[in-house]
Amino acid sequence: MSDLKSALGEAVEAAFAAEGVPADLARVTASDRPDLADFQSNGALAAAKRVGRNPREIATAVAERLKGDARLAAVEIAGPGFLNLKVSDDALSDRANAIAADARAGAERVADPRRVIVDYGGPNVAKPMHVGHLRASIIGESIKRLYRFRGDDVVGDAHFGDWGYQMGLLIGAVMDENPDIAERIAAMKDADPNGPIPAEFERVTLADLDRLYPEAAAKGKADPAYRDRARKLTADLQNHDPGCYLLWRRFRDVTQVALTRDFHALGVDFDWWKGESDVDHLIQPMVAELDAKGLLVDDQGARIVRVSREGDKRELPPLLVVSSEGSAMYGTTDLATILDRKQQFDPELVIYCVDQRQADHFEIVFRAAYLAGYAEEGRLEHIGFGTMNGTDGKPFKTREGGVLKLNDLIEMTRSKARERLHEAGLGENLPEAEFEDIAGKVAVAALKFADLQNFRGTSYVFDLDRFTSFEGKTGPYLLYQAVRVKSLLRKAADEGAEAGRVVVAEPAERDLVLTLDAFETALAEAYDKKAPNALAEHAYRLSQAFSKFYAACPILVAAPPVRASRLTLAAATLKQLELALTLLGIETPERM
Ligand code: ARG
Repeated sequence: MSDLKSALGEAVEAAFAAEGVPADLARVTASDRPDLADFQSNGALAAAKRVGRNPREIATAVAERLKGDARLAAVEIAGPGFLNLKVSDDALSDRANAIAADARAGAERVADPRRVIVDYGGPNVAKPMHVGHLRASIIGESIKRLYRFRGDDVVGDAHFGDWGYQMGLLIGAVMDENPDIAERIAAMKDADPNGPIPAEFERVTLADLDRLYPEAAAKGKADPAYRDRARKLTADLQNHDPGCYLLWRRFRDVTQVALTRDFHALGVDFDWWKGESDVDHLIQPMVAELDAKGLLVDDQGARIVRVSREGDKRELPPLLVVSSEGSAMYGTTDLATILDRKQQFDPELVIYCVDQRQADHFEIVFRAAYLAGYAEEGRLEHIGFGTMNGTDGKPFKTREGGVLKLNDLIEMTRSKARERLHEAGLGENLPEAEFEDIAGKVAVAALKFADLQNFRGTSYVFDLDRFTSFEGKTGPYLLYQAVRVKSLLRKAADEGAEAGRVVVAEPAERDLVLTLDAFETALAEAYDKKAPNALAEHAYRLSQAFSKFYAACPILVAAPPVRASRLTLAAATLKQLELALTLLGIETPERM
């Protein structure tokens, strides 16, 4: 059974068609005036314009045709020809019962499932994850879950940054600080790059990389000789020089441990953990092929693909495929990855969930891929997002002015969550391990909901106090509501109160069911626009509608048939709310 909004949409369409006016204009939406109606259609106005008739006259004729529809309690015409539809209590009851019985809580599947890759997270070797990766992880994880839930065949890939210039910078910096490592690298030209990692390399920790990287990056910017050496080392690594390659493997290993921990704490997990380096073997043949297709151009020792098109408003730089040192660049591995994905999975859509500031990079890579025939035009899509800012309106920095590491952010939020739980007197009597688990879930809910409630393109201000509050439009508020329903249902079970058929009667029940019905619209919008905020908004509205229902409609003390109906409504609400939260990447505790 489809949602009421779509079902009524079809009925209005049929009435339009029967009146001989364009049915594609019959669109039904939720009413702007819930005090007057549940749904509305403004289509008569547009239809009148198109066929040169009076809108009110069309609306009247359509209304006449709809009057026999048992699902409608009232059909009225307002103003110049708006149709106002009020749904009958019976239709609402039917819909509520269908949602209650449906494991998907009333959600549909897409008609034509596609193979989709979501490229998100984008962590890098040696750069611990910082708040910049937070949005990529949170938004990407939600989009991945949403697409999968709608029925697509979805792969989430981290696209680990492990093959670029920063590797050369780090190899050089580690060698400078550790003469024994430098010596060893020079002495092992015949070693097996895939053999065991030498003991002195094992001394390098993530903390070392973390400390060395910013210094090396700064030196590389200031000092051309230093930069040239880093470029040379990058090329050596890419040519599988055994020493460089073994040291790089150590970098990868130590980074992955920390990344796995951070992603796990955030409830983010990838189906593929592929790195830029995993397409290394494709690069040479790809370069040869680009050359054969006449796409490669020599440019001062480097090789590029020109991607500008006629009609471009500004000139896009070319894709740098091979640097003058002969190494592969960020765009090179991205292009080869498109090829790899085509061979491995043949995706019909690839969604790149990456900071808006990389928009040009992706435009350039995508155009090159289309030119090379590695993807069909339009199947590669960059979903950009704004930044999380400090109160100064600039991308968030710590008080000391540094970038905040993801792990520190999570710890900070977790400790704030504990504080909040204590303040609210929640979880006091629970075993410590459970309390900790709850604090972790509240923290993740706080961070994720604060992010996802905004349209992804919008930047927002980091405000931990607000994010972690149990009041207002926050993740913790939603968890609290869900847990409240769980405890109500447990109590009902203890008292032996059984759920039964929903019979809608009260205004607050009507509102709740109409809100439950709107799940499908929210999902479709979030899916089509790749905008989980539509789903976040729905979760919030659902909680509010439940709160009003709970205040207005006593449950456990009501007469058995009424109690049974309301228990089913509560259970359906919980199922849908928990589902919506899961799709946002948020887990709900059993109790608080
Ligand atoms: N590692 C990159 C960064 O930190 C993000 C990777 C995004 N994905 C991609 N296919 N380029 O900026």
